[in-house]
Amino acid sequence: MGLDIKKIREDFPILKEKVHGKDLVYFDNAATTHKPKQVIDILSEYYSKYNSNVHRGVHYLSNKCTDANEETRIKVQNFIGAKESCEIIFTRGTTESINLVAFSFGEKFIKEGDEIIVSEMEHHSNLVPWQMLCQRKNAKLVKLPFSDNGELEIDLLPSLINNNTKLIAVNHISNALGTVNPIKEIIDIAHQNNVKVLVDAAQSIQHKKINVQELDADFLVFSAHKLYGPTGIGVLYGKKEILDQMPPWQGGGEMISTVSFEKSIYNELPFKFEAGTPNFIDIVGLGSAIDYVENIGLEVIDAYENELLQYATEKLSTINGLRIYGTAKNKASVISFLVEGIHFYDMGMLLDQMGIAVRTGTHCSETTMQHFDITGTVRASFSFYNTKEEIDALYNGISRICKMMGV
Ligand code: ALA
Repeated sequence: MGLDIKKIREDFPILKEKVHGKDLVYFDNAATTHKPKQVIDILSEYYSKYNSNVHRGVHYLSNKCTDANEETRIKVQNFIGAKESCEIIFTRGTTESINLVAFSFGEKFIKEGDEIIVSEMEHHSNLVPWQMLCQRKNAKLVKLPFSDNGELEIDLLPSLINNNTKLIAVNHISNALGTVNPIKEIIDIAHQNNVKVLVDAAQSIQHKKINVQELDADFLVFSAHKLYGPTGIGVLYGKKEILDQMPPWQGGGEMISTVSFEKSIYNELPFKFEAGTPNFIDIVGLGSAIDYVENIGLEVIDAYENELLQYATEKLSTINGLRIYGTAKNKASVISFLVEGIHFYDMGMLLDQMGIAVRTGTHCSETTMQHFDITGTVRASFSFYNTKEEIDALYNGISRICKMMGV
């Protein structure tokens, strides 16, 4: 079954907004997606009717929010195919999830001389925490490079692994290039060598059906706000047997079972990693976002977005002097490009005047830009609420700008 785009667009109030007097064309979905009214409404409903702190009260409101939070945990568990709900930890987002693992897994399992492999096409959130860990522990960061079409050089991976290698951190889909990385293959190679894998699913959770057990991922992280949910809430999935061995990373309420002045006994999973009052209303919003996406179906979403990507790639490739960065065989939802003679900021600002929102710059992935010896690109990233007519508007906009700039 196809998508009823007209009906879907009705669900997203912001898509009716005008920007500089023009219809909004929103192609910055890799940075954050818009929220359907179902998500917006449930946040308002919970603040209006049920707001109360979770896991702390015996009263009705507290129980209502606690139940809704734990229901969302189970929803996330089923959404990503985790074995147990205690393997789902709520965090502020992808960045916090990765920092949690870098700190806590790092404390327990990384020692001087150990090695961590990180790909060359990571977002800073999946590079800097590992750099910090390596500095703390005197460990070594090893680069898994990519080739000029934006595909990881997987053939090199076995030669990068040795007895000191403890972890590989890699994104499922690159935010800067749109490459879909072969994470199953990476995990298989890693596990043959007794190495753990963290998958950054920030750019894939909204496009691809993921099953952590089939993948056999050790850790997988994502943010709600790129999945049509609220900002400030995210997920860390980790295998129970690994999370159980990891120490807490923040101390406070909720993460303890008993406390005396001298010492504390820590709570069990998942609460051991959830110190303090969680973002409990946005957790409910995340649950609603998952319902929304599942209602459409990720396979349907993926197929439609691929159609958009293919259409946009063919169309933009006909523009003189336009180069697409990231031409991997397996791509999703992102076109990064430059037009010779036009700075990416100028392109982005002029498109904005036409109501077209794209992202410009390094996309928080300077190593990806350094690979191509450039300082940034223009990035258009698509969602299932976008249309081919909007891609035509982008094409016409770029063509007009090229004319205006005399290139
Ligand atoms: N990680 C987000 C992006 O790629 C912010 O735009």
